[in-house]
Amino acid sequence: MLKIDQVTIRFGGLTAVNEVDFEVKDGAIFGLIGPNGAGKTTLFNIISGVYAPNNGKIMLEGEDITGLQPYQICCKGIARTYQNINLFHDLTVIENVKIGCHSKVKSGLLSGILHTPAQKAEEKAIEEKCLGLLDFVGLTGKRDMLARNLSYGDQRRVEIARAMATEPKLLLLDEPAAGMNSKEKVDLTALISKINARGMTILLVEHDMKLVMKVTDEIAVLNFGKKLAQGTPEEIQANPAVIEAYLGGGIIGD
Ligand SMILES: Nc1ncnc2c1ncn2[C@@H]1O[C@H](COP(=O)(O)OP(=O)(O)OP(=O)(O)O)[C@@H](O)[C@H]1O
Ligand SMILES: [Mg+2]
Repeated sequence: MLKIDQVTIRFGGLTAVNEVDFEVKDGAIFGLIGPNGAGKTTLFNIISGVYAPNNGKIMLEGEDITGLQPYQICCKGIARTYQNINLFHDLTVIENVKIGCHSKVKSGLLSGILHTPAQKAEEKAIEEKCLGLLDFVGLTGKRDMLARNLSYGDQRRVEIARAMATEPKLLLLDEPAAGMNSKEKVDLTALISKINARGMTILLVEHDMKLVMKVTDEIAVLNFGKKLAQGTPEEIQANPAVIEAYLGGGIIGD
C-alpha cells in the first residue's frame, strides 16, 4: 500500500527524518513509534504533502506521490488526524465531518445556488453518510454539539470520522490516544480495529505502548530521525536497541 523509500528531510542543520525506509502492507495496522522528537509527525507531514522531502520517495500502491500537494494526496486516498487536534471549533460535530466529504462532492456553485434536485439529493446523501460515520465512531447523540464543547476523546473521534469521510485507502493517525482516559483508550483500541476491518490500512503513531502492542501487526521505530528497528510487536518489545532508546525500559507500559 505505502512504500517509504530512503526519505530524508532537513530543517537547517537538523536532519529530522534520515534515510527512512519501510513498507506498509495493504490491510495492515502499522505502528510508528519512537521517543519525542524522533521525526514521526514530520514523516506524517511528508506523507500527507505538508512537506516535500529533500531526498527519497513516497509510493502509494506503486504510484510516486512525493511532493504532491495535500489536497492531491487526499484525492489519491490518504487521510490523517493531527497530534494537536485540528477541528473547526465553532462548527458542530456533523458540520466538521461534512467538511471531510468535500473532496467527493460533485455539485458546483451554480447548482448550490439554484438548489437543483441533484444538489438536494447529494446534500441528503452527505448527511446520511456523516450520520453513519458518527454512529460508527460512537458520537450519534452529539451531532449538533459545537466541537469546542466536546471532551478530548470525542474531539479525536470527530477527527477520525472526518478523515474517514474522505474514503481513504490509508489512514494516518497521529497520537490518537493522547489526552484520553483509560476507558477512552480501550474504546479507541476497538475503534481502530473496527476501522481496519472496514478495509482501511492504518499507519499509527502512538506513545501508549499497551495500545500499540495490542493493535498493530508490525512496527517501525524511529530515533533521532533514523529507523532503529522494525518487526512484530513481540520482536520490538524484545529488541535491546529499542529498550535502550526508551531509556532502559517502560516501553511496554502498564
Ligand atoms: N517545521 C520545522 N522546522 C524546524 N524543525 C522542525 C520542524 N518540524 C519538526 N521539526 C523538528 O524535527 C524534529 C522531529 O519532530 P517531530 O515533531 O517529527 O517529532 P515526533 O517524533 O513527532 O515527536 P513527538 O513524539 O514529541 O510528537 C524535532 O527536533 C522538531 O523540533
Ligand atoms: Mg509528533
